[in-house]
Amino acid sequence: MADAPRAFVVGHPIAQSRSPMLHGHWLRQMDIAGSYERLDIAPADFSSFIRGLHSAGWAGGNVTIPHKEAAFAAVERRDAAAEAIGAVNTLWFEGETLCGGNTDAYGFAAHMDATAPGWSDASQAVVLGAGGAARAILHTLVERRIPRIVLANRTPDRARDLAGRFGASILPVAWADLPQLMSGADLLVNTTSLGMKGQPTLDLDLDPLSDAATVSDIVYVPLETPLLEAARGRGLRTVDGLGMLLHQAVPGFERWFGRRPVVTQALREIIENDIRGKS
Ligand code: ATR
Repeated sequence: MADAPRAFVVGHPIAQSRSPMLHGHWLRQMDIAGSYERLDIAPADFSSFIRGLHSAGWAGGNVTIPHKEAAFAAVERRDAAAEAIGAVNTLWFEGETLCGGNTDAYGFAAHMDATAPGWSDASQAVVLGAGGAARAILHTLVERRIPRIVLANRTPDRARDLAGRFGASILPVAWADLPQLMSGADLLVNTTSLGMKGQPTLDLDLDPLSDAATVSDIVYVPLETPLLEAARGRGLRTVDGLGMLLHQAVPGFERWFGRRPVVTQALREIIENDIRGKS
């Protein structure tokens, strides 16, 4: 009998990662003989870690901060999302070939589809932030052919860079011009860390948004950020950040362990309880 597949999440630090809880739940639920381990690898040791993956017998794993760009550079083959986003968060082998993908865009889209059907019929989106998470969101919005995407970031150059990378539907704008440019928008996505526990609040007047707008926040600690609370208060449809975390884990699990897991309410509650317990 083949050895039980072993997968990992690698980062530095890694103690905060909830991925072991997610994958461990699915392994137990489906009664799969396999393991998912947390590995703390410093940047200086990452390339030798990657070189040793195959001989160490790993089926693959997840990659998180600060290694996603190094993983992008290290793999031999990449999926289309990783190419577009410029970062790899999932590793697996095809034969002996190390492959890298990015499942963040998939995770965002799958959660939006599940909780806000029709969201991608939006005609005008506003995206806040221009970091790694913004790349995954922009990739999704461009793939879904949202015709106009206003992109605002504290550091305007980063927004301009992303507009150059993701194409003509992206309009990089100054943060100060947001009130006018949000007028009539039917989708707002926060990809910044504003509103996260311990960070400043995202202070934005939501009045200009369309009454039919969907507001999504990738921050999930707290589960209801001040932005989502304000959107709910204004009667808008809201989507929290936790579902993206849950859904982005699905494709990796299927690759390493051979069965496609399902994001259930029970799983969500396990992670929610953990977040509440620690925040
Ligand atoms: P991630 O990979 O999670 O997106 P990141 O690449 O560090 O992380 O990006 C964080 C995002 O939050 C950026 O858009 C950042 O704005 P800058 O590009 O100007 O740094 C934004 N951000 C973080 N703290 C912020 C703050 N206090 N005010 C405004 N934007 C902030």
